[in-house]
Amino acid sequence: MLEFIKGTLHIGNVSATDLAKRFGTPLYIYDAEIIRRQIERVKRAFSALPFRPFYAMKANGALSVLDLMRGAGFGCDTVSPGEIFIARKAGFTPDNIWFTCSNVSDDDLRAIGDERIVINVNSMSEIDRILALDLRNPIALRVNTDIGAGHHADVVTAGGGVKFGIDLAEIESARMIAEDSGRKVVGLHAHIGSGIDDIGPLIESVRRLLDLSTDFPNLRWLNFGGGISVPYEPGKAEFPIDDYGAELTRIADRLLRARDLTAILEPGRYLVAESGTLLAQVTSRRISRGQWWIGVDTGFNHLVRPSKYGAYHHIVNATSGSPASLRQTFDLGAMAEDVVVAGNLCESGDVFTRDEHGKTLTRRIDRTKIGDLLAFCDAGAYGFSMASLYNARLLPPEVMVDGDDVRLIRERQTYEDLVKGMR
Ligand code: LLP
Repeated sequence: MLEFIKGTLHIGNVSATDLAKRFGTPLYIYDAEIIRRQIERVKRAFSALPFRPFYAMKANGALSVLDLMRGAGFGCDTVSPGEIFIARKAGFTPDNIWFTCSNVSDDDLRAIGDERIVINVNSMSEIDRILALDLRNPIALRVNTDIGAGHHADVVTAGGGVKFGIDLAEIESARMIAEDSGRKVVGLHAHIGSGIDDIGPLIESVRRLLDLSTDFPNLRWLNFGGGISVPYEPGKAEFPIDDYGAELTRIADRLLRARDLTAILEPGRYLVAESGTLLAQVTSRRISRGQWWIGVDTGFNHLVRPSKYGAYHHIVNATSGSPASLRQTFDLGAMAEDVVVAGNLCESGDVFTRDEHGKTLTRRIDRTKIGDLLAFCDAGAYGFSMASLYNARLLPPEVMVDGDDVRLIRERQTYEDLVKGMR
């Protein structure tokens, strides 16, 4: 949990200034207690169903995060051979891994490497190639249920104009191609988008998958995807996960039990977003045309969501801030100044306070001076995992805090790492 003790931000029981002294900035910090809290929320909400939770590791693929998920009995949803490799390193057994294809190559398919890993195919052509390569893995079909949702157009993954899923009109042919070759379609899957605030579209997509399931005699699983959001902004309500669980149970439980099927969900963001903080140091204060700009020692190379989607990440002064600055207890009237917060990359779009059209916004925060630490909150999902090497700035280290305990879980890159493998 984030809290202020004597003006300093604490993560778990550890002060942000101590963490910065010990590990430097920029720095990703994850709070294990929050990950465990979210794990329990998922388990509880769907406990009435025959249910198996998976974790979409694209949200955060740190081994220590995966370890928490595996320890809690989650399976792992992967989307590349690299993710499969990391999942195996983290101890997931092949029968606990799904591989969801997206325009995969033959090399990708061969690299899956173990025939117990479920291949969740995204198109008819992938089925053809799996057959041509004579892969024996269980096959699931990713269905475009025509219901899409998400916090930004770029993360809506069903409906028209998206690259994902086999259309409902094609699904019968897909089943026939697979089954005519002696394969069983053991799963149906729909993931409709990411950052979804209300259960309406999720439930509608579930209904379509349930309807479709009656045409598939060999199913073992129905995978309803991820997509559950978290409240990034002050005043925003928590996602009603218990309602989602209750409604899913109401519409699906009977059918699942009658056919001995297991429901799968594969959330990413919901499990890890709120656990993560990106800690950066203020390197400059600049006034331009009457507007204060705060510069920090990180950029969209480490947290791309504001630049890419105009996504909101709450920002607090971690060195000398107040409880009123925290998202959960935010009091706009108690904040001192309106500032733009910008990163250290050589690009004008490197701004943390933007809307989805790229327009620069201001944010009201506690007064901030050079050397203060700024915390970018709720950065545990699609933060480090989307980081890049732009401008040859080093990838930051990652730290896991658990109560009083602090563990370095990924080292800061070195300058030598930047040229490793280059000729
Ligand atoms: N399953 C599949 C097949 C997915 O493609 C995804 C996310 C998930 C599960 C997990 O979705 P979640 O529960 O995290 O919403 N970079 C974007 C999000 C992209 C999500 C891509 N797929 C962002 O930062 O908002």
